[in-house]
Amino acid sequence: MCGIVGYMGNQDATPVIMSGLKMLEYRGYDSAGICTMDSGDIEIRRSSGKLINLERLLKEQPLHGTIGIGHTRWATHGKPTVANAHPHKGGAVVVVHNGIIENYQILRDELSKKGHLFLSETDSEVISHLIDEKLKTAASLEEAVQLALKDLQGAYALCILSQKDEKTLIAAKSGSPMVIGIRGNEFFVASDMPAIISNTREMVVMEDGEMAVFRNGEVKFSTIDGLEITKTSHYIDWSPLKAEKNGYPNFMLKEIYEQPQAIRNVVAGRLRMDEGDVFLEGLNLNDSELNSFERLCLVACGTSWHAALTGKYLIEEYCRIPVDVEIASEFRYRDPLVSKKTLVIPISQSGETADTLAALREARSKDAHIVSICNVVDSSIPRESDGVIYTHAGLEIGVASTKAFTTQLVALYLLTIRLGRANGTIDLIKGREMIAALGELPSLVEKTLELDPQIEEIACECLTSWDAIYLGRGISYPIALEGALKLKEISYIHADGYPAGEMKHGPIALIDREMPVFILAPNDRHLVKVRSNMEEVITRGGRVIAVCSEGDHETSKGAEFTLHIPWAGEALSPVLFTVALQLMAYNFAILKGKDVDQPRNLAKSVTVE
Ligand code: G6P
Repeated sequence: MCGIVGYMGNQDATPVIMSGLKMLEYRGYDSAGICTMDSGDIEIRRSSGKLINLERLLKEQPLHGTIGIGHTRWATHGKPTVANAHPHKGGAVVVVHNGIIENYQILRDELSKKGHLFLSETDSEVISHLIDEKLKTAASLEEAVQLALKDLQGAYALCILSQKDEKTLIAAKSGSPMVIGIRGNEFFVASDMPAIISNTREMVVMEDGEMAVFRNGEVKFSTIDGLEITKTSHYIDWSPLKAEKNGYPNFMLKEIYEQPQAIRNVVAGRLRMDEGDVFLEGLNLNDSELNSFERLCLVACGTSWHAALTGKYLIEEYCRIPVDVEIASEFRYRDPLVSKKTLVIPISQSGETADTLAALREARSKDAHIVSICNVVDSSIPRESDGVIYTHAGLEIGVASTKAFTTQLVALYLLTIRLGRANGTIDLIKGREMIAALGELPSLVEKTLELDPQIEEIACECLTSWDAIYLGRGISYPIALEGALKLKEISYIHADGYPAGEMKHGPIALIDREMPVFILAPNDRHLVKVRSNMEEVITRGGRVIAVCSEGDHETSKGAEFTLHIPWAGEALSPVLFTVALQLMAYNFAILKGKDVDQPRNLAKSVTVE
């Protein structure tokens, strides 16, 4: 899994590929590599670790050539070493690969018997050897690629070069995303559009089972079985967003502080105060169509799954529609019970998460209607959906999702209003009230951000802890999960979130003087019960950090530390509590000296299952 880039044109390929890889680093940063071809000479540079290591290597050992391919890796098969870094060379053939080849071991054994020498532990290397083997009998590189692809099982997006065909670049895909940019007789291949949009806005989206052969300033599209096809390019009218820190020490902090604006963006142009309703431009469903669904199914991974859980609380409470929440990697393999009466809502920041995309396709195969909630415009998930609600959070670079999550919460809140207005469970007055609450939200987020110094003090006091527990009830339960996930992702402190009422069924055994317990206690209908859970922690000597609502001085009694969060109403308080917990995780990680933007082992978008 990973990001791939390919280039053929009249410019030096290296800077084009490196700038593309920079944009794809969200897909992994365990190693990076690049290969260029210059008059049939193939040269490869590879480094372990982040792209910056490859940049340094290229300064010492520059590459030349106007054809090239590049890769940024998130390790699946084989450790993140230089030997396992792409591009991989087998005989005359060099490949970069995003995906997983499931039958690689069988192919590797067969090819080894035929004399191929393998130098890495990856599944991907087998592709280069296999194509090289097919070249022995095939009439061309193109034919060798087609023959090799027939033998592969699994997912791939590939860029391929061969020393024996110095004028050709081949790209092929099945199961992993790929787009092609065209500018005159220059061609750009990438895992997603932002990687190449600064070069061209004319894009061709490749479908599964398709390949492209670039030669002499021309491109020929075909199926991987060799059937020639016509593909048309589309003009992409959105602008590439620039990744700039704007004076912040890292992207994560910048993105946390961008949340007031991100929230303004997700609601912009969508509120209809007079009608007590919202307008969701990409939803593409009228009231009677919306009311025709018997159930909703929200499906996602990671932080987006926490947004989905929050969405269930909102939609079931306000709209009285049954909502299932599914982890995409489970949903896709268990023959889920969805039908055309189910509205399936994949939620994804990147729109490229392999499991969420596969879940979408599974739902589609069962005739479900699909409306996605997504941040990245024109990414695979919205492209394959019947409708989309974009979250407009802007470019999110920090691997730990922050503004993408809070804008997902707001998008779900908007969808709740729309569904409730459509089926009558939210009347005009309630609709207006819900919309008015949104108006206050950005400034309340700003107020929450002012808690940063206090949060830093708490993090400082608890810095030696190895574990932490987060407890919440009702709509705060998914926020407890999200707070715990954020802490583990960037500070490497083990943390778990639980419904506060579940604590007595197990987690309570962990409580001692060393264990920070974050109690989420907004001023909602669960407050009294949460206070009781807090007492249970205090009685057992736990260190309580009470995160409660402004003006609540009762809950703080007995807590070692208290944070008072502005009150935004029960339905929107998750947004503000989240902001405080993001800052908490951030301060822990920074005080521990961790790289918050690119934490170890993680990737911003997981494009393999
Ligand atoms: C990765 C990221 C998480 C993210 C998850 C789902 O694990 O590290 O931050 O929540 O993928 O990503 P998506 O882009 O589908 O929201």
